[in-house]
Amino acid sequence: MKIVAATNNKHKLVELKTILSQLGIEVLSAADVGGIPDVVEDKDTFEGNACKKAMESAAHLGMPVLSDDSGLCVEALDGRPGVFSARYGGPGLDDQGRCKKLMTELKDCDNRRAYFACVIALADHNGQLIGSSMGKCLGHISDEMKGEEGFGYDPLFIPTDYKKSFAELGEEIKNSLSHRKNALEKAISDGLFNKLKSSSPT
Ligand code: IMP
Repeated sequence: MKIVAATNNKHKLVELKTILSQLGIEVLSAADVGGIPDVVEDKDTFEGNACKKAMESAAHLGMPVLSDDSGLCVEALDGRPGVFSARYGGPGLDDQGRCKKLMTELKDCDNRRAYFACVIALADHNGQLIGSSMGKCLGHISDEMKGEEGFGYDPLFIPTDYKKSFAELGEEIKNSLSHRKNALEKAISDGLFNKLKSSSPT
């Protein structure tokens, strides 16, 4: 089965492709289908944004679409930056700037607990929602940025039972325990990919 990933984030795309290829699902990029529409992420939940992205992109393309909405939730910040993870600190910041801002906000804070959350949503070729599933990855926020791999907050996030950040652990370990991997596994066990297959024209 072929499915378009509604993301322009090349790191997310590689993670989705790698995890789903093990299941025989071919993930097409935005570039493979001539681009995806810009969907305004104006919902206040991961689920709301993921479903909106999947449905609008699928309706536009006339193809099945998988979307991912994800972010970092920090306990001491009451779950922030959460759905605003990509926009944390305002439009002038890049990934490194956002990590630095988070380190500053958590300076002198003993509670470093945090989790990554990801909601995967699937929509069929008519833009009808098939469903959505959430995955999490628990861990804590380091007081220094370490590692070169991955993206976003990876240099600061240390998953539970590890001593290194996602950016140090690298792709293979990250993909075996990440929020994205857990959301995809949940989507599979919820039967979303089977439902999508049966709603696709043969
Ligand atoms: P989205 O494109 O609205 O889903 O934004 C997700 C944002 O959350 C990204 O831009 C990152 O800042 C952060 N994020 C989500 N998943 C990850 C991850 O796997 N590693 C690091 N940061 C992530």
